Amino acid sequence: MKLVVVSNRVSRGKPNEPMTGGLAAALLPVVEKSGAIWVGSSGKVRSGNPREPFAEIEALGAGALAMLDLPAAHYGGYYEGFANSALWPALHSRADLIRATQDDYHSYREVNAFMARALLRFRKPDSMFWIQDYHFLALGAELRDLGVSEPLGLFLHTPWPTRAIFGGVPHHRALIEAMLAYDLIGFQTEEDCENFLSCAQDELDLTVHDGVVLSSHGRTRAAVFPIGIDPAKFAQLAAKAATHPDVSRLRRSLNGEKLAIGVDRLDYSKGLINRIKAFERMWTLQPQLLRTASLLQIATPSRGGIEAYGNLQSEVARLVSDVNGIHGEVDWTPIRYLNKGFGQAVLAGLYRTAQVGVVTPLQDGMNLVAKEYVAAQNPVDPGVLVLSKFAGAANELDTALLVNPHDIDGMARTIAAALSMPLTERRMRWEAMMTKLRGGTIQQWFADFTDALAESQLDKGPLGPVLAEPRPSWPLRSATNGGVRFH
Ligand code: F6P
Repeated sequence: MKLVVVSNRVSRGKPNEPMTGGLAAALLPVVEKSGAIWVGSSGKVRSGNPREPFAEIEALGAGALAMLDLPAAHYGGYYEGFANSALWPALHSRADLIRATQDDYHSYREVNAFMARALLRFRKPDSMFWIQDYHFLALGAELRDLGVSEPLGLFLHTPWPTRAIFGGVPHHRALIEAMLAYDLIGFQTEEDCENFLSCAQDELDLTVHDGVVLSSHGRTRAAVFPIGIDPAKFAQLAAKAATHPDVSRLRRSLNGEKLAIGVDRLDYSKGLINRIKAFERMWTLQPQLLRTASLLQIATPSRGGIEAYGNLQSEVARLVSDVNGIHGEVDWTPIRYLNKGFGQAVLAGLYRTAQVGVVTPLQDGMNLVAKEYVAAQNPVDPGVLVLSKFAGAANELDTALLVNPHDIDGMARTIAAALSMPLTERRMRWEAMMTKLRGGTIQQWFADFTDALAESQLDKGPLGPVLAEPRPSWPLRSATNGGVRFH
C-alpha cells in the first residue's frame, strides 16, 4: 500500500539542524526509509483562494516530502488559535488556559478541509493515510466527505484527558464525532486510550466494545502504540559527539563538577517552573551541592505569539535569574539557561555529558527526550534519569527515578539522590531501561501502526452489535511491560 503521512510540522532531514518538537524529528528516519509521501505545512502562508493548493515537493529518502503553503486567512486561527490555545491546553489537562473563539474553530476546520483537498493529489487506488496529532482531528472526516474510502489512521502524540476536561473544548462533541471517521486511532498510553473511549461512549452515547467505537462512520478502533526511538543510532551519535565543539567546551567548563540536563520546548506542560524551584530547594537544603552540581536547561522558544507562552518565557527567565542571583558565585553559575535549539547530534553529546537527565513534565504524551537521554549514556558509567510519573515514558522507563512534579521537596531530594547514586545501581537501572528501548523502537512503532492500519478495514462490515468482534491479528506492544499483547 502507498502510505501518505500527514503532520503539521515536517522535517527536511538535516540531522545537524535544530528541530523543534519530538514528532518531526522522530518521524524523519522512518518516513525516509518507508518510501511514504510526507505532507505538511511549509511554514509559509498564501493569500487568495488558489484552486490547486501550492506544494513544494522534494525527494526524501525512498519517498517524497510535500510542503504546503497554508491559507493565510486561517493560519493564525488554526495554529495559534484552536490547535494551540484550545486543544493543546485541554489535551494537557490545562482547561484553565483554553482560549478560543468561534473564528478560531472555523479556521481550524477550514485548514483541515484545505489539507483534505490537497491530499487528493497524492491519492492512489491503494493509498492509506496516516495523520499525526491534534492539528488534524477532523481531517479524516473531511477526506471521507471528498469520497476517500481508503484506510485512514490518526496517531495522537499528546495525552488524551478525562471527559470532564475535554468537555471544556468548544465543539468537543463535533470533534469527537469527526474523529470517528478514522479507521484506527493510536494513543501513547492505555490511560489516554481509555479516556478517549469514555469520551466517545458518554459524550456521544455510542457503543464501545473491546476498543472499537460504533458510529455513523462505521467502526473505529482505538489502540495503544507507544512511540519509541532508535536507541542504537542515538548511542552512536552520542559516542561520536564527544569531539563536537559545543560538547567539548561544556566538558571543559565543568571542572569535575556534576551536571544535570533538561531539554524542553518552552511549554507550560513541561513543568519548568517546578523543576527550577526543585533545584533551588535542593541547593538550599543541601548546600554541599553548591559548586558541585549545576543544571544546564535548554528551553527552545515555541508558539511565542500565544499569551500563555510569552508569560511562561518571562516567568522562567525571572526565576532562573533569581536562583542564580541567590546561589551564584563570581566563578560559579548554578543554572545555565539557553533559549535555543540544537541538532540531534549535539544533543546526544550533551546528554552523555550529564550525570542526571531531568524530564519532569506536568503532563506529556510520551516525551522522547527521556528515551534519548537514556540511549545516549555511556554503558560503563551511565547517568540517572529523573522522570515525571506524568510522562507517557514513565510506563516503560519504570526504573528511572520517578517523581511527582508537583512535589517540589520530593523532586529536590530525588535529584540529590540521582547525583550521588552508586555505579552498580545506575547500571542496573540503565540496563533495564535500555532493554525497554530496544524492545520498542521507532521502527517497530511505525510497522505496528501501519500494519494495523492496513488491516483496519478488513473487519469494517455493516453497523450492528460488535459482541462477536474478532480480535485484531496484529500485536500491540504493552505500554507497561514492552511485551506483546492483544488489546
Ligand atoms: O507533542 C506533540 C507535538 O506535535 C510534538 O511533535 C512536538 O513536541 C510539538 O507538539 C510540536 O509543536 P510545534 O510544532 O507547535 O512547535
